[in-house]
Amino acid sequence: MTSLRNLGSNFSLMNIAIIGTGNIGGRLAKSWMEHGHRIYLGTRNPLNTSVRSLVMINEDLISAHAPEVAASKADIILLAVPADAAFEVTKQLGDLNGKIIIDSMNAVFRKPIDFNKTSDAIIAASGNEHIVKAFNMIGAENMDNTNYNGVKADMFICGQFDSDKAVVMKLAQDVGFRAFDIGNLEMETPLEHLAMIWGKLAFGSGLGRNIAFKVLQR
Ligand SMILES: NC(=O)c1ccc[n+]([C@@H]2O[C@H](COP(=O)([O-])OP(=O)(O)OC[C@H]3O[C@@H](n4cnc5c(N)ncnc54)[C@H](OP(=O)(O)O)[C@@H]3O)[C@@H](O)[C@H]2O)c1
Repeated sequence: MTSLRNLGSNFSLMNIAIIGTGNIGGRLAKSWMEHGHRIYLGTRNPLNTSVRSLVMINEDLISAHAPEVAASKADIILLAVPADAAFEVTKQLGDLNGKIIIDSMNAVFRKPIDFNKTSDAIIAASGNEHIVKAFNMIGAENMDNTNYNGVKADMFICGQFDSDKAVVMKLAQDVGFRAFDIGNLEMETPLEHLAMIWGKLAFGSGLGRNIAFKVLQR
């Protein structure tokens, strides 16, 4: 991790490539940019209106590129594309050695072609096992507003390497979440099942999309 811009804290401000500029990618881009992180949007169409409007917010902190160019500029890669495109999109990003890959995708909704889990598709495409599952378990509306009447929504993450997870915990906290490390990638599918429960509550139980999870402790 050589190009983190150190402003004095442990992780400071980061160079983040966001691959996929839809609901999740677009909102996290805005939240992280507002926190001072440098965002490289990786998009199939840098001239798309929604991409342009993100860049116009602060051209010093957000720029739009072809996915492989965005990835080459960053230490952290957020994959926020449909899960069935996980292999093909990751393959296109080129050498991801030394980078942390954040996987927000949910294979339970759109199974990756030839793989059961998105992490398997990412590893097959890149050889990089530095994957942290995060930002997948609740709706996109939470990615730019974590506040529930003064209480922070919770974000659970998992991955193989503690050092990667420490970075992603910080990024989740920067967005405003209370973040929990729930273990290694064996927890990937349970985290996706939580996304299914979120969907059942949002749509099946009629609570709507502005809901999240909270761990209570006493
Ligand atoms: N929406 C939610 O509430 C939510 C919540 C948790 C997790 N997730 C997961 O997060 C991932 C992204 O979800 P999203 O709602 O942000 O999706 P989305 O709004 O459909 O955006 C996905 C983006 O991926 C890019 N992309 C690259 N290759 C693609 C391809 N082959 N086909 C389609 N799009 C492609 C597109 O950006 P460009 O056009 O800029 O390339 C597209 O805007 C999904 O895996 C989803 O399961 C979603």
